[in-house]
Amino acid sequence: MFAARIDQIQPFKVMEVLDRAAEFEAAGATVVHFEVGEPDFPTAAPIVAAGMEALSAGHTKYTSATGIAPLKEAIVGHYQRLGLDVPASRIVITSGASAGLTLLAGLLLDPGDELLITDPGYPCNEVFARLAGGIPRAIPLGPNQGFQPAVEDVAQAWGPATKGVLLASPANPTGTMLDGEAIAAIAAYARGRDGFFILDEIYQGLSRRDLAAAKDYASGLSFADDLFILNSFSKYFGMTGWRLGWLVVPEPAVEGVTKLAQNLFIAPNAPAQYAALAAFSPAALEIHEERAAVFAARCRRLSDGLQQLGFHVPVTPDGAFYLYVDVSHTGMSGADFCSRLLEEFQVAVTPGDDFGRHQHERYVRFAYTTSEAAIDLGLERVDEALSAWGLG
Ligand SMILES: Cc1ncc(COP(=O)(O)O)c(C=O)c1O
Repeated sequence: MFAARIDQIQPFKVMEVLDRAAEFEAAGATVVHFEVGEPDFPTAAPIVAAGMEALSAGHTKYTSATGIAPLKEAIVGHYQRLGLDVPASRIVITSGASAGLTLLAGLLLDPGDELLITDPGYPCNEVFARLAGGIPRAIPLGPNQGFQPAVEDVAQAWGPATKGVLLASPANPTGTMLDGEAIAAIAAYARGRDGFFILDEIYQGLSRRDLAAAKDYASGLSFADDLFILNSFSKYFGMTGWRLGWLVVPEPAVEGVTKLAQNLFIAPNAPAQYAALAAFSPAALEIHEERAAVFAARCRRLSDGLQQLGFHVPVTPDGAFYLYVDVSHTGMSGADFCSRLLEEFQVAVTPGDDFGRHQHERYVRFAYTTSEAAIDLGLERVDEALSAWGLG
């Protein structure tokens, strides 16, 4: 009775980890959470206040399918601050990057079309492709490439049925970024094949590359104007539960995306859109920047701590809030390591299995979306675990 795609979709392992962690907590244990890909901070106060005002002012009805004009203008201003000129007409507000991915899959893929994605990569990407009848095709990547493809890797993977490529910068689960030259070269290659290039910039703002010295890292749009950009208020702006994001699409795609948005979603969340206007206020931006600095400090603390315990951290992340760690020296697979760490020491970490099939058993993902005190407690427990397992 169910569609064949349902059997092709893997459950999200991190959800199983979360459920098991919740069971420990219900039994009174303290769990250290390194599994959650969500900022631990509450939404910044100016945004919450704007959201409450929006509700009182009656902004509780459908809006235009592609979002309210003032929010598009605020996003235009956001790109202007990064030195980029993006017209409001190319911006489509969505219910999170997830709805953005749904729209792009519907816009760009016919049944049987291949979408190139990365392995490791964000696990849901392939599901969006399958929903449109597309076929995800993974580009296997390793640490010597910074887990990001060069144009040669894209060209090698591009087959007769390939329609386009979806990459992220900074990426989940590795936090690494594509270089500007690679973005330009991949965009030129895709253009030459009459294909598309979707760039997921959901961790924009949480990049730790020096924007002042290299403005070009602010967005892939600096390197190619015909990219399909995915972005979101979830991560840097700390609004995961509000379900709000945006796309920047090339002008010829606007009409098609608009039709899909009208039919699939009617409108993005109205109060969230009004709340998000405050996300770009100086007061909120100051809070977001402080939090980005906190993530950077936590990254160093966790990375240093794990390396002192003998772990190999194959790439230093350029951004986001993840550390992709090689656990192969323990003699355990990532899945066994995570399972034992949670069951025996109540430290929750996500196994590499969630992010692909290429050397996934070597890796686990630590998310530093938890306090420095919790990071220290987690490191202590990992140390105890290694001793208990005869590996210390
Ligand atoms: C790389 C990447 N893209 C997209 C998403 C979806 O985010 P949202 O729908 O909350 O905007 C996530 C969430 O973790 C992500 O890591």
